[in-house]
Amino acid sequence: MTPDRFSALWRSLEPIGREPGTGGYVRYSWSRADLATREWFVEEALDRDLDVETDGNGNLWAWWGSSDAGDAVVTGSHLDSVPHGGGYDGPLGVVSGLLAIDLLRERGHGEPLRPIAVAVFTEEEGGRFGVPCLGSRLLTGALDPAKARRLRDRDGVSLAEAMEAAGASSDNLGADPSRLARIGTFVELHVEQGRALADLDRPVGVASAIWPHGRWRFTLTGEGNHAGTTAMADRHDPMLTFAYLVLAANKEARLADALATVGRVAVKPGATNAIAASVTAWLDARAPDQSIVDALVDAVVRRVAERAARDGTSVEWTAESLSPVVDFDGGLRDRLAALLGDAPVLPTGAGHDAGVLAAHVPTAMLFVRNPTGVSHAPAEWASDADCAAGVRALADVLAELAYP
Ligand code: GLV
Ligand code: MN
Ligand code: MN
Ligand code: MN
Repeated sequence: MTPDRFSALWRSLEPIGREPGTGGYVRYSWSRADLATREWFVEEALDRDLDVETDGNGNLWAWWGSSDAGDAVVTGSHLDSVPHGGGYDGPLGVVSGLLAIDLLRERGHGEPLRPIAVAVFTEEEGGRFGVPCLGSRLLTGALDPAKARRLRDRDGVSLAEAMEAAGASSDNLGADPSRLARIGTFVELHVEQGRALADLDRPVGVASAIWPHGRWRFTLTGEGNHAGTTAMADRHDPMLTFAYLVLAANKEARLADALATVGRVAVKPGATNAIAASVTAWLDARAPDQSIVDALVDAVVRRVAERAARDGTSVEWTAESLSPVVDFDGGLRDRLAALLGDAPVLPTGAGHDAGVLAAHVPTAMLFVRNPTGVSHAPAEWASDADCAAGVRALADVLAELAYP
């Protein structure tokens, strides 16, 4: 697999959903861009004589070989993006899966003894409906389909409505135990979301664990009023409570050696000359240990509630998603690290479908070096040469697992 071979397939996907100017991506699930990436995937899979299916949760599967023995080796990732995100988070794993199959065939491998599939999971980022790993959570039964159907995007469109508008049905959302039972091993290749591999001067690594993390939605309610006629002392301004929330989250995270981010906010009515009536803010919190995450969120909630009492506002909060710690299968991790020439083994604070699947099947992840270390932003990057090295590593892994 040469860098040019990687580049040729990569460049065919690259323009879809890319914004002119920043080079960032907006590929929300079930949007026009998402449908175009799905179409791209189906065409590429059919070109390779793979059997393509869409499951009831909108996840795509491209199969090489078929069996119901429950021993399939599945790879893949996602094609959706965060708002204005990078191009590699997700798509690199999907493109690499297709190219790894090409490479296995070029190396003379016939139909695998354990079937191989490339999967594309729906809405891994939660960029549209708020719940990350939507497709894999539904597949594994970790998310109630009735609740999922009611999730709403920024414009108030429900998941059920978005699926219908995209020509898909939400009738079959939910746990799919027979499909899950077909998976014997899952391996996700992903761009690294940090600089560890760059610092180690290695192109490919293996994941050890995913930190526990979650998303909490805060609704801060005050009293909308005129910016020019309301005395400062008479205000009930939820923007003040919001500002305090951001500072408290930052401070508590620093104290706890954790990570806390408020990266999304919606202000109503959102006028320069009106005191806000309400603010909705989303807190993302992560740490190596669940007890640290819990203590951090408790502290933020307590401090924000105290502040709200001073501001004359009210606070409600709810957990939108919780992702427990994931320790990837140790035997598989060590086997793959050895196979890949003592590849570095790294933990990550980023969530992945692999983390959801790991509770059900032996699962591993490969990371490809990202020299900028940036992710969820347009500067996320990997060189064609490193991506080609990632494809070779994935092909080695699939060969090891699927031709026992
Ligand atoms: C998804 O990429 C996440 O870690 O939030
Ligand atoms: Mn991501
Ligand atoms: Mn991802
Ligand atoms: Mn992710």
